[in-house]
Amino acid sequence: MSEQNVEVAAPYGGGAADAKPSTPAKRIRTHHLREMKERGEKISMLTAYDMYTAQTFDEAGCELLLVGDSASNNVLGNETSLPITVDELLPLTRAVSRSVKRALVVGDLPFGSYQASPEQGYLTAVRFMKEAGAHAVKLEGGAEMAPVIEKLTHGGIPVMAHIGFTPQSEHTLGGYRVQGRGESSDRVIADAHAVQEAGAFAVVMEMVPGDVAGQISKELVIPTIGIGAGNQCDGQVLVWQDAFGLRTGRMAKFVKQYADLHGVLLSAAEEYVADVRATTFPGPDHTF
Ligand code: KIV
Repeated sequence: MSEQNVEVAAPYGGGAADAKPSTPAKRIRTHHLREMKERGEKISMLTAYDMYTAQTFDEAGCELLLVGDSASNNVLGNETSLPITVDELLPLTRAVSRSVKRALVVGDLPFGSYQASPEQGYLTAVRFMKEAGAHAVKLEGGAEMAPVIEKLTHGGIPVMAHIGFTPQSEHTLGGYRVQGRGESSDRVIADAHAVQEAGAFAVVMEMVPGDVAGQISKELVIPTIGIGAGNQCDGQVLVWQDAFGLRTGRMAKFVKQYADLHGVLLSAAEEYVADVRATTFPGPDHTF
């Protein structure tokens, strides 16, 4: 065979089908999460916005992957989660749902895409399910969002609610603040019950005092997923660039950094630049 005809490894990644072979995994369904709660097993969720992170976090055993509107400030370069649009988030969601074997993929409904009416929310959520292959959607808000949650769940769309600090409302809430301290705990507790009553299959609680989140987790039958809400929640979620150190700078108190990916990437990129300048890359091993 001439050298020209020899098959070479895919030069730029082989797509979602290129994932490491593994034993067939049973897809996580919403009832599995409820059963995990009943058994006292904790649920892990991370954000993911692309193929390789989705494959890696799925392989690591995360039950839930959230294609968060946090892509706005972690992928698209915006300052907050507010500017991201449905059309920007759909392709990221599609990449993640194509790439997982086991995890349940949750698409996050962007600001302004569901608050106007239950009908608006339903039509947006349908796009996430049909066009992007999401298995569920997440939306922010408590009791005031009950009609939207009801509309979606009656229409066949599993909904994860999000209460406590809701980043899409940061201007109404007066910035990043813990919600549910002191007397305002009643409102967060009422929100948790309202979203469960409306049909949500799980609820994210963000920046809620640990004792309040613990009480809610005991009272609800649906799983609670905490971010800055202590370890008594039924599960935890973190934004992956925060958790694994791709993002640098000041982190929220609730973030634990498990790696320094910025440092690893920076030194690899610096080594590459030095090799290119010195013409030590490509060497004979990387030349046809
Ligand atoms: O968009 C997101 O990443 C989120 C998490 C912070 C829960 O909503």
